[in-house]
Amino acid sequence: MSRRRLVGWLVGAFITSLVNAVSHPIRVQAGINVSSILTQSFVSFSIELSSFPDFAGNLSNPNTFSLNLLDNIGNLTGSKPIIRIGGNTQDYALYDPDLPTALNGTYTNASSDYPTILTIGKSFFESYLTWPDVQYIHGFNMASNTTASQDTLLETAPLACDVLSDGLELICPQMGNEPDLYKTSAQGIKRPSNWNESDYVAEWDEKTELVKSVIDPNCSGYYTWVAPSFAGTNNSLSPVGVWQNALGRDNDIKEVSSHNYISGATSPGVTLQGTLMNHTRTVESIDAQLQLAAILTQLGIPFFLGETNSLYNEGAPGLSDSFGAALWGVDFNLWCAANDIERVHMHQGTNYRYNAWQPVTTSKATKGTKAPYYGSIGAAAVLGNSVVHNIQIANVPLTDAREAAYVVFEDGILARLAVINMMQYNYTNPNGSINTEPRPSKTYSFTFGPTGKTSVRIQRLIANGSDSISGITMDGRSYNYELDQGRPVILNNITTGERAAVSSNGSVSFDVPWSSMGILTFEEA
Ligand SMILES: *[C@@H]1O[C@H](CO)[C@@H](O)[C@H](O)[C@H]1NC(C)=O
Ligand SMILES: *[C@@H]1O[C@H](CO)[C@@H](O)[C@H](O)[C@H]1NC(C)=O
Ligand SMILES: *[C@@H]1O[C@H](CO)[C@@H](O)[C@H](O)[C@H]1NC(C)=O
Ligand SMILES: *[C@@H]1O[C@H](CO)[C@@H](O)[C@H](O)[C@H]1NC(C)=O
Ligand SMILES: *[C@@H]1O[C@H](CO)[C@@H](O)[C@H](O)[C@H]1NC(C)=O
Ligand SMILES: *[C@@H]1O[C@H](CO)[C@@H](O)[C@H](O)[C@H]1NC(C)=O
Ligand SMILES: *[C@@H]1O[C@H](CO)[C@@H](O)[C@H](O)[C@H]1NC(C)=O
Ligand SMILES: *[C@@H]1O[C@H](CO)[C@@H](O)[C@H](O)[C@H]1NC(C)=O
Ligand SMILES: *[C@@H]1O[C@H](CO)[C@@H](O)[C@H](O)[C@H]1NC(C)=O
Ligand SMILES: *[C@@H]1O[C@H](CO)[C@@H](O)[C@H](O)[C@H]1NC(C)=O
Ligand SMILES: *[C@@H]1O[C@H](CO)[C@@H](O)[C@H](O)[C@H]1NC(C)=O
Ligand SMILES: *[C@@H]1O[C@H](CO)[C@@H](O)[C@H](O)[C@H]1NC(C)=O
Repeated sequence: MSRRRLVGWLVGAFITSLVNAVSHPIRVQAGINVSSILTQSFVSFSIELSSFPDFAGNLSNPNTFSLNLLDNIGNLTGSKPIIRIGGNTQDYALYDPDLPTALNGTYTNASSDYPTILTIGKSFFESYLTWPDVQYIHGFNMASNTTASQDTLLETAPLACDVLSDGLELICPQMGNEPDLYKTSAQGIKRPSNWNESDYVAEWDEKTELVKSVIDPNCSGYYTWVAPSFAGTNNSLSPVGVWQNALGRDNDIKEVSSHNYISGATSPGVTLQGTLMNHTRTVESIDAQLQLAAILTQLGIPFFLGETNSLYNEGAPGLSDSFGAALWGVDFNLWCAANDIERVHMHQGTNYRYNAWQPVTTSKATKGTKAPYYGSIGAAAVLGNSVVHNIQIANVPLTDAREAAYVVFEDGILARLAVINMMQYNYTNPNGSINTEPRPSKTYSFTFGPTGKTSVRIQRLIANGSDSISGITMDGRSYNYELDQGRPVILNNITTGERAAVSSNGSVSFDVPWSSMGILTFEEA
């Protein structure tokens, strides 16, 4: 995939604008890098396998709240998020044909966040039938290496094929989660220290062949896979090394999946401003992925982030669950899109601190829409509908690490400009009292050249402060569970319908309060 430079784009846009007489060519700034045309469902999710029944429910009891939240994103981007079912628990899951429930999970001292002893029953697969028009990646257990895990592959593959039977439902399956940590995982060592790249490839080949051997040939989706789903770009197995050892020699890799977290939930020195609301940090984190992608996409295989979120080990309260993390989420998604990463799957699990939503009420968390969901909604609103339009995005470099800007083109025409102001504004003081300091704003000015317009619409993603965990709105809409089960509800106490004046030479200035995003929309609704 070659990246098109704006200079190249301008020619196309100029022609388009003349033909359609829509607008004058809109120049942002010479030399910015425009992404390739986005594929569908850029804003996607990954769900912990052991939490899938909570998130999706089953046919007699579907989780319609989750479905509403997926629909909201689908309504903005034109297609629903693609859902990957996997994570650490995919590598613990064993099949029990006699289990009367979807799942039997037992927590151990290895993690208090998810069960590390886990059996799934036949009805686990019913959860795949609850969300219409959603495509999945199903994760198989590779880490276990017993008779029971071999039987699990043989018995669950046909069940997966029954519910995810063709291109409409299945993107493709995945064998193993983060095998580059099998030798080192804090949740238990799963392979000897001499297990290397060629061993991984041999085992991957053997286990994917096992799956292929038992599925109906009509389930041809199971002949190609996402791989290698490594946790990092340079852990104890090298992602480039596994290709050098002939992973995918049978042309059976459809997409390259890599995982990414900015830092860890308990890593020293992690702060909202320094670690998450920090564009430089996001750029640094993604740089290693881009270096890997540059090598692997030479194989002609798309590269995406199959599991990602703010802070690994399921997030940290006060950081990953705050509105600041939502602003991070917008910047992270848009930066990945601007750099030709094919899709971003934000990881979710019941009770996780970085959740976009909690699907059921438990003793640890209340069912509801959480702040990070607004990061996904914000990114979807900026990117727009990639089903009906050819969407391209470019980062507009700004000077401060605490801010980021992007321009989005629809069919070659400038459609939106987003400014994410990540300068920290706390709503509450450390003692819990409300901050009475006035909230600062920064004025942003952009010159586009003649636009043929006198004003443009402003939409805002905002909350009381970066530390807020509730009261968040996107263009005056709340997606909270308690209002209308996650469907958008327009709040009448939030300003909407603002406009920014455009001067005759095509300059626009607008204020963006600290810890919020402003979107300028050039096309008229
Ligand atoms: C465009 O991309 C090139 C190569 O990745 C990079 O060196 C340059 O800084 C980028 N320019 C802008 C304006 O982002
Ligand atoms: C959102 O999408 C759902 C499902 O596709 C549809 O039923 C609903 O009407 C849409 N809502 C809006 C506001 O477009
Ligand atoms: C469907 O979900 C409900 C609620 O969790 C549960 O009571 C029921 O047993 C489930 N059905 C199956 C077939 O697992
Ligand atoms: C669930 O798993 C535990 C062991 O972790 C086991 O003791 C229990 O019998 C299992 N329950 C069912 C219904 O299989
Ligand atoms: C969990 O407890 C077992 C003993 O019951 C111990 O051997 C193991 O090291 C512990 N694991 C962790 C991750 O603490
Ligand atoms: C997995 O089990 C098989 C059969 O027992 C054995 O041949 C193989 O060496 C094992 N692989 C690993 C990585 O332990
Ligand atoms: C992996 O180790 C085996 C010996 O156990 C060796 O034959 C093979 O060359 C090694 N592969 C790589 C990629 O290092
Ligand atoms: C496989 O697909 C073909 C053509 O659609 C159909 O005739 C056949 O019945 C299918 N086989 C099974 C086992 O479903
Ligand atoms: C990968 O990690 C090793 C140390 O484990 C280091 O020596 C090497 O430079 C790293 N490679 C890259 C590309 O970062
Ligand atoms: C943002 O991250 C960079 C790179 O980690 C760091 O050097 C810088 O100090 C951070 N900025 C802020 C405002 O914390
Ligand atoms: C906001 O709150 C955090 C956490 O209490 C604190 O570290 C930070 O200094 C505060 N920032 C500002 C700008 O007041
Ligand atoms: C706006 O209204 C909602 C719903 O009634 C309420 O929860 C929220 O606190 C209000 N927000 C502001 C900024 O007043």
